[in-house]
Amino acid sequence: MKEKLREVADQARELIAACQTANDILNAKAQYLGKKSLINQLYTQLRDLPEQDKPAFGQLINELRAEVEQLLERRDQELKQATRELHDQTREQDLSLPGCFQPRGSLHPITIIRRRIEDVFIGLGFEIAEGPDIDDEFHNFDALNTPPDHPSRNLADTFYLDNGYLLRTQTSTVQVRTMEKYPPPIHIISPGRCYRNDKPDPSHSPVFHQVEALVVDKGISLADLKDTLQNFAQIMFGPQVRSRIRPHFFPFTEPSAEMDISCVSCKGTGCRICKNSGWLELGGAGMVDPAVFKMLGIDPELYSGYALGVGIERIAMLKYNIPDMRILYENDVRMLRQFSGETG
Ligand code: DAH
Repeated sequence: MKEKLREVADQARELIAACQTANDILNAKAQYLGKKSLINQLYTQLRDLPEQDKPAFGQLINELRAEVEQLLERRDQELKQATRELHDQTREQDLSLPGCFQPRGSLHPITIIRRRIEDVFIGLGFEIAEGPDIDDEFHNFDALNTPPDHPSRNLADTFYLDNGYLLRTQTSTVQVRTMEKYPPPIHIISPGRCYRNDKPDPSHSPVFHQVEALVVDKGISLADLKDTLQNFAQIMFGPQVRSRIRPHFFPFTEPSAEMDISCVSCKGTGCRICKNSGWLELGGAGMVDPAVFKMLGIDPELYSGYALGVGIERIAMLKYNIPDMRILYENDVRMLRQFSGETG
């Protein structure tokens, strides 16, 4: 029996070392480890041994089995490695294979439009000013001549924080901060995020973006405001676009106006988008109220100015024909992908 065991072991070692393919390995496995294998036959032969010899021989067969398993595994790995090396040496470059596609991110439509608006105003001689998202009642309301009982101060409209701070409801705060810091002449725009306690719907979002513009100098009149509006409208929406202002009310401007452009969809003839009026509302504007100047130490007898504010979402929706503001915030990649390649 010992003799037999040694014979099987020697044969197995030789055969496994001679394996050249994965198929050879499979055959050797069947021959030594399968149901009808030589090793299994040895187990059967155990039965005929005297009782006291059985455990020692059983142990030897177990060891042989473990060794064969190990040898097979090792040879299999050697063959695989050799195949890999051969493949690497002989592989040719297939120039017709498609390249590796690296998906690239794109700018968000709000960023694209913000940058375009900035470009238009920079081209008109404006500089960019910034202010904090968290501001106080003075900069958001008091200095903008907003009376204590004005509805916009309401808890239902404004997000108040502790100690008199709030999330700014308008970028007009930056008008105040700029006039506090710099003497006229002033030509600035301030793009930024605003916050209002609004429920999201097709035209509202609790977080949104505005661009404010402020000009303060000697001899500034409504004509300058209209000129800037017309320039802005044409550069943003095309040379055929017309603009107009309508009387309105804002606490910080006198007179105040709302700015319209001719409908970009029907070109002014009337359609669903402009509710058949031929005009689209763009934002608010007006001549800086002398009360604001006085509060900030600017002499209203010497200086005058205009201010305007537009919503970035509103312009993005008009430009890209987006029917619902919430689409801009859901960030569905199928929507965002449509803007890849636009640099703003
Ligand atoms: N801040 C105003 C708003 O959020 C928009 C606005 C109106 C800005 C008139 C102005 C302005 O600068 O003159 O509704």
